[in-house]
Amino acid sequence: MVPPSLFILTGAGLSAESGLGTFRDVDGLWTSFRVEDYATSEAFARDPLKVQGFYNARRRNLMGASPNAAHMALAALQKAWSARGGRVTLCTQNVDDLLEMAGAAEVVHMHGELKKAWCLSCDGRSAWETDLGPGAVCPQCGKEGGLRPDVVWFGEFPYHMDLITQRLEAAELFVAIGTSGSVYPAAGFVRTATARGMPTMEINLEPSDNAQAFSTRSYGPATETVPAWTKAMIGTL
Ligand code: APR
Repeated sequence: MVPPSLFILTGAGLSAESGLGTFRDVDGLWTSFRVEDYATSEAFARDPLKVQGFYNARRRNLMGASPNAAHMALAALQKAWSARGGRVTLCTQNVDDLLEMAGAAEVVHMHGELKKAWCLSCDGRSAWETDLGPGAVCPQCGKEGGLRPDVVWFGEFPYHMDLITQRLEAAELFVAIGTSGSVYPAAGFVRTATARGMPTMEINLEPSDNAQAFSTRSYGPATETVPAWTKAMIGTL
């Protein structure tokens, strides 16, 4: 029997216990840095060095990070589902690659990836693990100085929305993990799921802004709540 299609949306809370900051917690990134100064194309045009420095520091932090038990549990769930012809869509707002490092076969990065650079000269995307700056040379076109982080900034369109919409509408269970439900379109996915008649679940450290929109909820650190949930799900196979 093919297991039901799952659509799982993840946010910064999934990677918090791997040492990567969240955005809106008390010690979150946006409590120390203004979005307008670091996460818009206008900020980048105004002061590229400042914006590159912000993302270089986050990329360096990511280079030293490891997947936690929640990443491993989601990768194992996706593997168990696909072994039986089922589908688990891992749609993440996160720009880290910890789900891939945990063994996830397919991850949809709707806000881009910290370990990729986007060349504004040739529009090419390339893997990038070191600091980005004015001397960086595009591996595809060879031009210097046109590279920015391949991260979706406020005011820009999230990536892969056609695929996301198609997978979300075809799902039979929607689960949001480690997200505050503050940023659209991701924050609206639970309403799309509800409108399609599927059950919805929030797994978070504490109730999000969207908590009331979910049919079931589980609260606690992701490294405890996510493995407990995936274990129960795999137990139904
Ligand atoms: N386990 C589970 N959940 C956690 C943990 C943890 N250890 N630590 C924090 N959380 C929860 C918080 O309670 C919060 O609800 O994770 C959520 C993090 O919320 P945000 O910091 O707002 O991050 P996120 O929802 O991913 O932000 C969405 O906003 O700034 C943009 O592009 C950025 O992708 C990001 C988007």
